[in-house]
Amino acid sequence: MAVTDAAPIVTRRVGLPESWTLRSYLDNGGYVGLRRALEMAPEEITQEVLTSNLLGRGGAGFEAGRKWSMLRKAQPVYLVVNGDESEPATFKDHMLVECDPHQLIEGVVICAYAIGAAQAFIYIRGEFALGLERVQAALNEAYEHGAVGKDIFGSGFDLDVVVHPGAGAYICGEETALIESLEGKRGFPRIKPPFFPAAIGLYGAPTVVNNVETLSNLPWIVENGGAAFAALGEGRSTGTRIFSLSGHVNRPGNYEVEMSKTTFRDLVEHYGQGVRLGRQVKAFIPGGVSAPWFGPDQLDMPLSQEQVGAAGSMLGSGAVTIMDDTTCMVRAAWRITRFFHNESCGQCTPCREGSGWVAKIMQRIETGAGREDDLDLLLDVCDNIAPGLSWPPQQTTICVLGPSIPSSVVSGIRMFRDEFLLHIKEGACPYG
Ligand SMILES: Cc1cc2nc3c(=O)[nH]c(=O)nc-3n(C[C@H](O)[C@H](O)[C@H](O)COP(=O)(O)O)c2cc1C
Ligand code: SF4
Repeated sequence: MAVTDAAPIVTRRVGLPESWTLRSYLDNGGYVGLRRALEMAPEEITQEVLTSNLLGRGGAGFEAGRKWSMLRKAQPVYLVVNGDESEPATFKDHMLVECDPHQLIEGVVICAYAIGAAQAFIYIRGEFALGLERVQAALNEAYEHGAVGKDIFGSGFDLDVVVHPGAGAYICGEETALIESLEGKRGFPRIKPPFFPAAIGLYGAPTVVNNVETLSNLPWIVENGGAAFAALGEGRSTGTRIFSLSGHVNRPGNYEVEMSKTTFRDLVEHYGQGVRLGRQVKAFIPGGVSAPWFGPDQLDMPLSQEQVGAAGSMLGSGAVTIMDDTTCMVRAAWRITRFFHNESCGQCTPCREGSGWVAKIMQRIETGAGREDDLDLLLDVCDNIAPGLSWPPQQTTICVLGPSIPSSVVSGIRMFRDEFLLHIKEGACPYG
């Protein structure tokens, strides 16, 4: 039972028997949106998506319709699906590709038709072995069914779709690194501006990169109209969205909820069935490990991109991680920093070197060798990575992985300075 009356959109078939097959998809309203889309003019579809105000679900939260409208006018145009999903604690696209691959394929064909692409690529994280298998099997079925390929449903529209497995690098989720990877090169993010993928993307052609969940919303939007989507939620945060709830809750999982009308507290208490063993929330990460942390005083904040942004963090990839009062905040921030250090592609000095220095200082604090001036040193190194330590961070690097590194450490020091100092004073972690 949801907190609001909004019915799920992208997860509505999850849990149905063999939900990944064409048979099940057709029995449950599949490919109706695509048939309708093909009777519309491409611009009308873009207009519906603009009306829906669908924000990208991959992390940056950019309006999908606006992204499509910004494409450079040239042919060919490519559509690339970002199914790399590697932000720690984010596991919603993983579920969508495994449980409802036809919904994604239908969304891909609708988007390709709207933007005039004849070729699309679905880039999926290599570790999603079952997801890859199911998307490929669904694609084969969709070709046979006439939903992909030549003259789709007799409309005259042609589209080829290729499934491409990634090789497990976090950075390949960044859209320009993903494009490099698709081109067969090392996944190095490209410098932008001047050129965003909408202008110069895959093979130098105008390219739309959209997230799996973003595209999975399109069949519903075409069928029900952009206004129906925009009627859910509030402000710019419309529709429903999947939140991956993890950490110290009794029932972690993916929950699709109405945006803006649902709060973090609803997620934790209603969907997550409370904090384990009845403990208290000490802090939580509202949108993936790149996001600055929130304290329990922010649990009543709505799941709204604007409000979370105004409070100094982001909904990001939709991963909400709860930390209870047994959590060592130094260890939590250190673990996240180590992740970034391992995943830095190494092109930019502040990210490559800074992440290593921050991780080393955090290690010595956590393992009892911290020094009194370490907190100032940490803040100084972080300030060199993202000057001003503000949110959103200033960009000193090619992509935003670098400026995201300080988020956890700076949050930890600002919110739990005494706990950091206790590690240094006692020469040990008080949590053992
Ligand atoms: C380091 C890094 C990792 C990212 N990883 C992902 C990812 O795994 N999946 C994703 O959809 N977007 C990811 N993004 C965001 C993409 O660059 C891009 O904004 C997104 O795919 C656009 O799709 P959307 O507009 O539908 O959200 C990442 C960004 C950065 C900087
Ligand atoms: S910020 Fe880090 S991950 Fe991004 S391009 Fe620079 S070195 Fe690579």
